[in-house]
Amino acid sequence: MANLNVHIPNLKLNDGTSIPMIGFGTGTAWYKSGDESQIDQACIDSAAMAQKLGYYHLDGAEVYKTETELGTAIKQASIPREKLYVTTKVISNIADIPSALRTSLKKLQLDYVDLYLIHAPFFSDSKEDHQQKWKQMEELKEQGLAKSIGVSNYLPEHLDFIFETCKVPPAINQIEFHPYLQHPDLLKYHKEKGIATEAYGPLTPVTKGGPGPVDDVLAVLSKKYAVNPGEILLRWCIDQDIVPITTSGKEQRLSDYLRAMTFKLNPKEIQQINEAGSQKHFRGFWNHKYGPEDRR
Ligand SMILES: NC(=O)c1ccc[n+]([C@@H]2O[C@H](COP(=O)([O-])OP(=O)(O)OC[C@H]3O[C@@H](n4cnc5c(N)ncnc54)[C@H](OP(=O)(O)O)[C@@H]3O)[C@@H](O)[C@H]2O)c1
Repeated sequence: MANLNVHIPNLKLNDGTSIPMIGFGTGTAWYKSGDESQIDQACIDSAAMAQKLGYYHLDGAEVYKTETELGTAIKQASIPREKLYVTTKVISNIADIPSALRTSLKKLQLDYVDLYLIHAPFFSDSKEDHQQKWKQMEELKEQGLAKSIGVSNYLPEHLDFIFETCKVPPAINQIEFHPYLQHPDLLKYHKEKGIATEAYGPLTPVTKGGPGPVDDVLAVLSKKYAVNPGEILLRWCIDQDIVPITTSGKEQRLSDYLRAMTFKLNPKEIQQINEAGSQKHFRGFWNHKYGPEDRR
């Protein structure tokens, strides 16, 4: 297994806080489609194991129905609260965001989250609705219940609504991001507005998005840096100041992923991945909201 004492760098956010540049997610593989009260012990064990390995950035959401598991895993791992970086998201109970966060905090057994996100913009087409919801997010930050606030799956048009009236700009937009979905226009927008990018599904080219045109480049770079293709994909995010959120139920994989902290891709290598990746389009999430060729 990789050296468990690797240093995980932080990314500075526009509100002065910092976020660890790799996160362990409690959605996708852990997503509970059935009864939320049926506790998933495997999710608890994996989230606790991740913390033991050094993953202090933990990504949750009310819609995953695994906040109770995450809270239990946090208790079990006993990492000092100030070292942890805990995210959760609101969407099912978007009608009452303050109450949704209170419920999430109870399940997480925490007094505050480090990052609270609106999970998706699709709850309304109305500019006023978006502005009103963002105002509620700002109030939660003001109250100290969320140290940072942000969004997920937002496009520039949704962010524009917020920027018209916000006092606190979104710190982060968490989006699906990998070589087959590079969102160049959205990333340019983020840069201009000082919004950080988080990447979910970063391993897509080696999981459900493969095989594909990026495989050969990944093979060459994996050999050069003596790591797995997945670690190249994680590093490709980090070297672009993008925070990858991954997950695994396997200790070996989670341990190996930390090797992404031990090398750096050069600009030419990043470019090679970008170019090979842009020959294919693949979206693994929220497909019902986008046409087959929509790369936004
Ligand atoms: N905001 C949103 O709308 C949104 C949407 C999706 C996800 N997320 C967040 O992002 C987190 C990570 O998302 P993700 O799971 O899509 O990330 P990912 O890092 O792309 O994929 C991780 C998954 O890939 C599997 N995997 C890894 N290597 C593999 C291989 N060689 N062959 C087959 N499977 C392999 C892992 O399974 P093993 O357990 O077998 O290793 C794990 O289930 C989620 O947990 C959630 O917190 C957010």
